Amino acid sequence: MPQKYAAGNWKMNGLVSDLTEVLEIDKGVQDLACNTVICLPATLIYAADGDPRQVVEIGGQYCHPSASGAHTGDISAEMLSEAGAAFVVTGHSERRTDHGETDADVRAQTEAAWRAGLVAILCIGETLAQREAGETLSVLAGQLKGSLPDGATPENTIIAYEPVWAIGTGKVATPEQVAEVHDALRAQVDPEMSLLYGGSVKAANAAELFALTNVDGALVGGASLKAVDFVPIARALA
Ligand code: G3H
Repeated sequence: MPQKYAAGNWKMNGLVSDLTEVLEIDKGVQDLACNTVICLPATLIYAADGDPRQVVEIGGQYCHPSASGAHTGDISAEMLSEAGAAFVVTGHSERRTDHGETDADVRAQTEAAWRAGLVAILCIGETLAQREAGETLSVLAGQLKGSLPDGATPENTIIAYEPVWAIGTGKVATPEQVAEVHDALRAQVDPEMSLLYGGSVKAANAAELFALTNVDGALVGGASLKAVDFVPIARALA
């Protein structure tokens, strides 16, 4: 069976004072069988690493393909690892859109994450126009082929399906839409690789998504910022 993950992505949110929420999340998930990861802004990772957490693991949200070099403003997987991250998100649609990251870039970032010993949470997802054109499965297959490096294993990679039109919009994909995609993805990756859904996941819709055969958890944005919102999602999974 694939490992189950309740993963949060704080995106560009949070100051050191907000790390109390990570500690609250930690308290709320200690008895659960699922893995819990919170992907923080890079500035918070080192501070979070010093906190007395028991079970919640920390991730970054992006890493450069190189370990070091003249790349102003960038951050390497080695830096994230040293600061205390064990995971990193690669290929998030906001990075693909805001920074023009291509499948080839995501592949190189994912390989860099592995070299630093990080687990990559590799994101793929179709736009609304692609879904309406009936291209969802072919777009996702193309993204997977282009961005998932050879050598991906259930230990070094988690796949997150995040329909772009469902991110931060309050419009969650229906269980039928998620099942269709996750069943198709399952046929394309290792049977033990965890497949997460992301896009407006909340406590109210988590249980029906987690009941689907090939959904092994969620990558949660907005509802991961507060323990009161995130803990019930993790509890719906475990
Ligand atoms: O990485 C997380 C996703 O982009 C989902 O964000 O839960 O705010 O829709 P959201």
